[in-house]
Amino acid sequence: MKILVAGASGLIGGALVSTLSRAGHEVFPLVRPPRAASQGQVSWNPERGELDVAAAAGAAAVVNLSGANIGERRWSESRKQEIRSSRVNATRALVEALAQLEPRPGVFVSVSAVGYYGSRGNDPLDETSPAGTGFLARLCTDWEAEALGADRRGIRTVLLRFGVILAGSGGALAQMLGPFRLGLGGRLGSGNQWMPWLSLDDAVGMLRQAIENSGWQGIYNAVAPEPVTNLAFTKALGRTLRRPTLFPVPRAALRTIFGQMADEMLLASQRVRSTRLPETGYSYSYPELEPALRRALTRP
Ligand SMILES: NC(=O)c1ccc[n+]([C@@H]2O[C@H](COP(=O)([O-])OP(=O)(O)OC[C@H]3O[C@@H](n4cnc5c(N)ncnc54)[C@H](OP(=O)(O)O)[C@@H]3O)[C@@H](O)[C@H]2O)c1
Repeated sequence: MKILVAGASGLIGGALVSTLSRAGHEVFPLVRPPRAASQGQVSWNPERGELDVAAAAGAAAVVNLSGANIGERRWSESRKQEIRSSRVNATRALVEALAQLEPRPGVFVSVSAVGYYGSRGNDPLDETSPAGTGFLARLCTDWEAEALGADRRGIRTVLLRFGVILAGSGGALAQMLGPFRLGLGGRLGSGNQWMPWLSLDDAVGMLRQAIENSGWQGIYNAVAPEPVTNLAFTKALGRTLRRPTLFPVPRAALRTIFGQMADEMLLASQRVRSTRLPETGYSYSYPELEPALRRALTRP
């Protein structure tokens, strides 16, 4: 299949492109300014809503992983605007461009996040649960609404609400490794907040299934079978690294350092499972946390 990937240079995009290429697909990364597209790439300008329709012609699938990194730095008002527009506006631009392709792609796979649910304590959440409140919940709601525009245009559309992706090379786990390796790791706040997670292998596995398997349609919580609390995660990471985890980080310190991100990401509680994934027959590579952590820490 000819497959277009937006956000191909990112943590998930890089792993997905390698896997799809190894599987024999023809993968075309979408390239944003200031980079110029070369052979085998498609140029797009998400800010201006432009995409090289001629280069995209014949695409059977389009994957949307684009967006300014949410956890990289504090959320100033301008950073929040960038986080939002690089998802909501970019997804709208992509969907409008897809509608111009003739023939239209068979499938559009777009990501969202468990941030959709806001912070919900111990409430069990699945795909039928309503959106929560806060910046991330609003962002995910609007981002998903744009992606569902592809469905309204008759393209099979799959939305994966990812949990925290576990990879040693990037994302949340990589940011934690420094203090944990020094033996300075510990729970965040009370540690009682629920954290849905997913191995990078399973993130790529689910994206691939969503592309290749026409039975996948609609919204899925892309999470491991069991969420864990932050305390259980902290202990598991300490065991995996063979380091003590005796230094809890107080809630107030997190708020001082990270601002709004502390409440919406580090302290937010989302006890999320998927009731839709079992219907697909998806078989996890890493259904349990400690093997997933070992894999993340040894992955090349
Ligand atoms: N990693 C996680 O734990 C996780 C969890 C839930 C949801 N997600 C979502 O899944 C998607 C992919 O995640 P990821 O971890 O692979 O993200 P990532 O490493 O931050 O990569 C995202 C990619 O988006 C593109 N991008 C578009 N606009 C951008 C901008 N203004 N600034 C910087 N990059 C921009 C870049 O690719 P190009 O330069 O190639 O365009 C970038 O490499 C994101 O939308 C993310 O929110 C991730």
